[in-house]
Amino acid sequence: MTEMARLRKTHPMMEAIVDEVDGRRMRVGNHWLTDFASCNYLGFDLEPEIIAAVPEYLARWGTHPSWSRMIASPRLFIEIEQELTELLGAEDSLTLPTITHIHLSVIPALAGQGTIFLDHNAHRSIHDGCIMARAWGATVQRFDDDNPAQLEEMLRACRTYPRLVCVDGLNSMTGNIPPVAELARVTRANDALLYIDDAHGFGVIGERGPGELSLYGSRGNSLIRHIGESYDGIVLVGGFSKAYSSLLAFVACPTDMKNYLKATTAPHTFSGPSPVASLATVQAGLKLNARRGDAIRADLHRKTARILDGMKQVGLASLNRSGSPIIEVPIGTPDSIDAIGDHLFNRGIYTTLAPYPLVPRNKVGFRIQVTAANTDEEISHLLEVLTEIAEMLPHPTSTRRE
Ligand SMILES: Cc1ncc(COP(=O)(O)O)c(C=O)c1O
Repeated sequence: MTEMARLRKTHPMMEAIVDEVDGRRMRVGNHWLTDFASCNYLGFDLEPEIIAAVPEYLARWGTHPSWSRMIASPRLFIEIEQELTELLGAEDSLTLPTITHIHLSVIPALAGQGTIFLDHNAHRSIHDGCIMARAWGATVQRFDDDNPAQLEEMLRACRTYPRLVCVDGLNSMTGNIPPVAELARVTRANDALLYIDDAHGFGVIGERGPGELSLYGSRGNSLIRHIGESYDGIVLVGGFSKAYSSLLAFVACPTDMKNYLKATTAPHTFSGPSPVASLATVQAGLKLNARRGDAIRADLHRKTARILDGMKQVGLASLNRSGSPIIEVPIGTPDSIDAIGDHLFNRGIYTTLAPYPLVPRNKVGFRIQVTAANTDEEISHLLEVLTEIAEMLPHPTSTRRE
């Protein structure tokens, strides 16, 4: 049995059944914990004005359109795509229910019988999309997204077209951003498309500028705007199911590509759409983002910095070099994961365990995610528990960085 399968069977911090939530607190049986495993970075899942927006949409549209998007779409989709395209500063965008649907259908459509260059550490759903593409005749080669020179060599040796380079944006485990500008230079110079999954960056990081309230930048309009790149030769994928707490995902791409994808991707033709309640929370979320998003992100940045600073003080390392709200804590001794997980759980802290093979053996540990809805008191308690964890580990993990 793999480490992951064993923990799933035995550890209370895996597949927990949550009986009740209260803000960012959750009750599992009769045990209350603070949720530091949530991707609801902006806290929109709990925002009264977003919750209040839903009934009116249901009254107007019913609970679920049920048409596939090829058959018909409520106008809401068109409005969302227009607003999203403007926010991202892209040429156009296409929405489908989830990023997983997008990877499984868009990667094969763009790769054809050509070659995909897949980052080793990309999210599992990208790997699955590449497996699907291989079944349709594409070749898959692996590279390391921290190594654009290796990618350039592989692209130069490649004899087939099309060429697609698939990477994560803001990484879901390390919280870091790959060298996108350099990857984009290499892909453009070698007639390849760069396909980026910024599931965790969208809503959190955005365009930089003098008026910004935090290092996350403004507007939460994702990685390409954050680093000041152009969309030329880049396909950006993201979703509303993390920062926006809703069920909808998008591909930002040129209009010609959007039309090609509409004609070729199975989820557009055959899958049911996002439910009306999700379209409502996306629209209400976009409105709230425009009004208060930057202040919420500044608060999120401050809370995250508090945790990262507190960890440094007690000698706990993190893989996080970016200040993003994803803080993986490698524990250095993979065998301690049960004990560390038990301690967190018993002290009322819920995090994501990161066992092998979810992460490489030397990075086994746990992942803390911060949301704007976590209170300062909850963060003070987390820091107390992290101090205890630092004392449980044989050496300060800061001496054994990546
Ligand atoms: C990087 C990344 N991509 C894709 C997904 C899947 O997104 P969705 O739930 O929209 O399919 C996740 C979810 O955790 C993710 O972290």
